[in-house]
Amino acid sequence: MRAFIAIPLSGECRRAIDEAVSPLRSGGEAVSWVPEGNLHLTLKFLGEIPSGRIGELGDLMLAGARDIPPFEIRVCEAGGFPSLRMPRVLWIGIREPLELVRKLHQNMENELSRAGFPRDEKPFHPHVTIARIRGRTAPGWPDAFAAAVSGMAVCAVPVTSYRLYESRLSPSGARYSVLREVPMGGGTGGKIRGGAGE
Ligand code: 2AM
Repeated sequence: MRAFIAIPLSGECRRAIDEAVSPLRSGGEAVSWVPEGNLHLTLKFLGEIPSGRIGELGDLMLAGARDIPPFEIRVCEAGGFPSLRMPRVLWIGIREPLELVRKLHQNMENELSRAGFPRDEKPFHPHVTIARIRGRTAPGWPDAFAAAVSGMAVCAVPVTSYRLYESRLSPSGARYSVLREVPMGGGTGGKIRGGAGE
């Protein structure tokens, strides 16, 4: 199965993003928008994993979050890969301080690499992907995206857990289901769970 590890965004934050960018959706641009329910902050894309390793991944994620207390991220600034001027991906970034997101990412990479999951080669750049550009967009269109994001109320997102997701690709888009949810701070409290549809 295809899997990735991410921080979920609160419903309030996902709705704020969705409302901010909705005027751009009808612009006829060759853009594929991430549906509101799929918005997340990716920590690691695992690619294909055997389903037999889900439990082990949950344990490694728990170890990675053990010394990270719950924290808050602020989702606010527009950006693009490779640049906002000529974007292939449009995203919203996270405002500093980022120490705990970076520490969680580092711990998680350390735990997973010890178990044989390769480390990401690219530097970690925390972001929420909003749209993928499929063709040319009108000049100035990325500026409209940046303006829409700057007009959005900053979302403060409490991070109390992170998740292992399965991603199923289909012609109508990716469908995510939660394989494991792991709390910050190393609590066990029954929060590690399997299940789908979140
Ligand atoms: P990103 O777009 O937020 O950077 C689930 O598919 C997530 O995994 C995506 O949101 C994407 O993160 C990341 N992802 C998907 N395919 C990937 C790939 N081939 N390489 C790296 N990251 C990928």
